Amino acid sequence: MARILSGIQPSGTLHIANYFAMMKPMIEYQSDNELFCFIVNYHAMTSNQEGDRLRNYTVEAAIDFLALGLDPERAYFWVQSDVPEVTELTWILSCHTSLGLLERSHSYKDKVSHGIVPNTGLFIYPVLMAADILLYQAEIVPVGKDQKQHVEITRDIALHFNSLYGDVFVIPEPRISDDVAVIPGIDGQKMSKTYGNTIDIFEDEQSLKKKVMKIVTDSTPVDEPKDPEKCNLFALYRLFADEKKIERMRERYLKGGIGYSDVKKELFGLIWEYFAPFRKKREDLSKDRAEVIRILKKGADKTRMVGSKTLARVKKATGLSYDSY
Ligand code: TRP
Repeated sequence: MARILSGIQPSGTLHIANYFAMMKPMIEYQSDNELFCFIVNYHAMTSNQEGDRLRNYTVEAAIDFLALGLDPERAYFWVQSDVPEVTELTWILSCHTSLGLLERSHSYKDKVSHGIVPNTGLFIYPVLMAADILLYQAEIVPVGKDQKQHVEITRDIALHFNSLYGDVFVIPEPRISDDVAVIPGIDGQKMSKTYGNTIDIFEDEQSLKKKVMKIVTDSTPVDEPKDPEKCNLFALYRLFADEKKIERMRERYLKGGIGYSDVKKELFGLIWEYFAPFRKKREDLSKDRAEVIRILKKGADKTRMVGSKTLARVKKATGLSYDSY
């Protein structure tokens, strides 16, 4: 029974790469761990400055999680900004974080090299992420490879802080899942909102069909053998099919005689069925946003009890409260 924490940015409609890389494993963790799962709207604000859009994506992401089986009674499930203690801790941590540590952040440097004009929030993004993790004393932080360095920065900050003030923070471990290979988008690049190549989890039937039919493949003729390991379509197929189907499809590829459009038709059916059990729940929740917001507020209250304890210790240790540690 470990305390596991991870967050997802409400920076767009959630897609199947979000699902397999983050949401599905998190939902599975809730059964035998203490799960902290949240929607990181403060992080999303570094790149989204339209109020209605941020609000909508935040609520929609919550609806997706709940529809897909996240249980707010079992897990801690909340929206980042509903626990404002995290911003207080961010300031305190930022006074204990050297500029150089942040200047070495790959993710920051990548964004700048792609022409993004950074705001200050983007630069201190790793400190906010450290506050997310340390405020709740998380032990394990499941993240994608691109976020590994941020967890390492969190560890550096926490170790430095503890060396000054005593054992205030639990030192978290990153958990990088490499069994989920890169999930390709419909154009064959890594699936990402930035590339506009996503298949959303709750795509409607027509648009799902259209997107699946658009998946880029090579131009091997129908009769010729095809290499499943080099095929985007097969990479997506294997996420949704069971072992037996995957094996059969692999053989059909290797033997030749199967056309990509047949594979696409089958894949469409599999995706549609896979999410079918969750669609009804999603519809019900969408019709009752007040209920969703009630769940989120309750989740924030529960989470806040944990966070405020850590913050009280931090304030004692650092001299910000009148009591000493
Ligand atoms: N930065 C992470 C991402 O973009 C999201 C995130 C914010 C996060 N705070 C976190 C992930 C804390 C794990 C733990 O994917």
